Amino acid sequence: MRLRVFQTQRDAGVYTAAQVERIILEEERPVLGLATGSTPIPLYEALVHLYQSGLDMAHVTTINLDEYIGIPAMHPQSYRFFMQHNLFRHVNVPLSQIHIPDGMALDLPAECARYDEVIRKHPIHLQVLGIGVNGHIGFNEPDDLLVSKTHVVHLRQETVESNARFFASLDDVPKRAITMGVQAILQAQHIVLMAFGEEKADIVARAILGEVRTDVPASILQLHRDVTVILDEGSASKIDAASRTATVV
Ligand code: F6R
Repeated sequence: MRLRVFQTQRDAGVYTAAQVERIILEEERPVLGLATGSTPIPLYEALVHLYQSGLDMAHVTTINLDEYIGIPAMHPQSYRFFMQHNLFRHVNVPLSQIHIPDGMALDLPAECARYDEVIRKHPIHLQVLGIGVNGHIGFNEPDDLLVSKTHVVHLRQETVESNARFFASLDDVPKRAITMGVQAILQAQHIVLMAFGEEKADIVARAILGEVRTDVPASILQLHRDVTVILDEGSASKIDAASRTATVV
C-alpha cells in the first residue's frame, strides 16, 4: 500500500483526480469504480475541473459500488441522484456507460446477478473507495464472513446512524442496500482508498496496519497489490511517523 497524507481534502481530491485522469488517458475503454458519500466529493470536484479544462470522458464507463434499497433514483439521497448531482451532470460520460445498482428492482437477486454481469463485462481499472467508521467498504459491513458477489445487505446500526446526517430523521434512512461484493473490489487493477477526518483515524489505522479481519472489511485491501491510501491529517492521526513515511505500509 502506498500512503499519501494531504494538508487539505482539496489537495487530496486533486491528487486522486490526477490518478483517475491517467487511467482515462491510458486505457482505450477506461472503467472506473466509483463511490458516494462525503469523502469522494473533492475528487469529483477536481475531475469536473479537469473535464472543464479539456479531459474527454466520452469513452469512460463507470460502475458504482452501491445503492440504497427502496428509495427512487430521483430521491435526493439516492446514490444515483448523488452521482448525477456531483459528477455526471457536469461531465460527458454517456448515460448508457453509467452503471449503478437499481435499488427499486422488484427482483433483487436478479438485479444483483445483472450487476455482476456488468462488472464481468467491464473489468475495473481503478476503484475509488471510502471507508465507513466501522471499516466497511462499499456496504460490505463487518461480519464473520465477507460476501464475494453483489448482494443485498442489512446496514448495521452504526452505518444507519452515520448516514442519518443526510436524512430528515433516523427513521428515513434506508436499512438495506445493494452492494458490490469484495471480489469485484479486489479484482480492480488499482484501488484508491480515501478517508478524511479524525473520526476515521482509528479505523484507518486498523485497516491498513492491523490484522486482516472480516470485522474490519477494509483490511482485506492489504491483500491487493496496488492500493493507494489517501488521507488528511485528521484521518492519518493514528498512524505513526515511521509508517507514514514508508512508501509501502
Ligand atoms: C458509498 C460507500 C461507503 C462510503 C462510506 C464512507 O458508496 O461505498 O462505503 O464510502 O460509508 O462514507 P463517507 O464518505 O460519507 O464518510
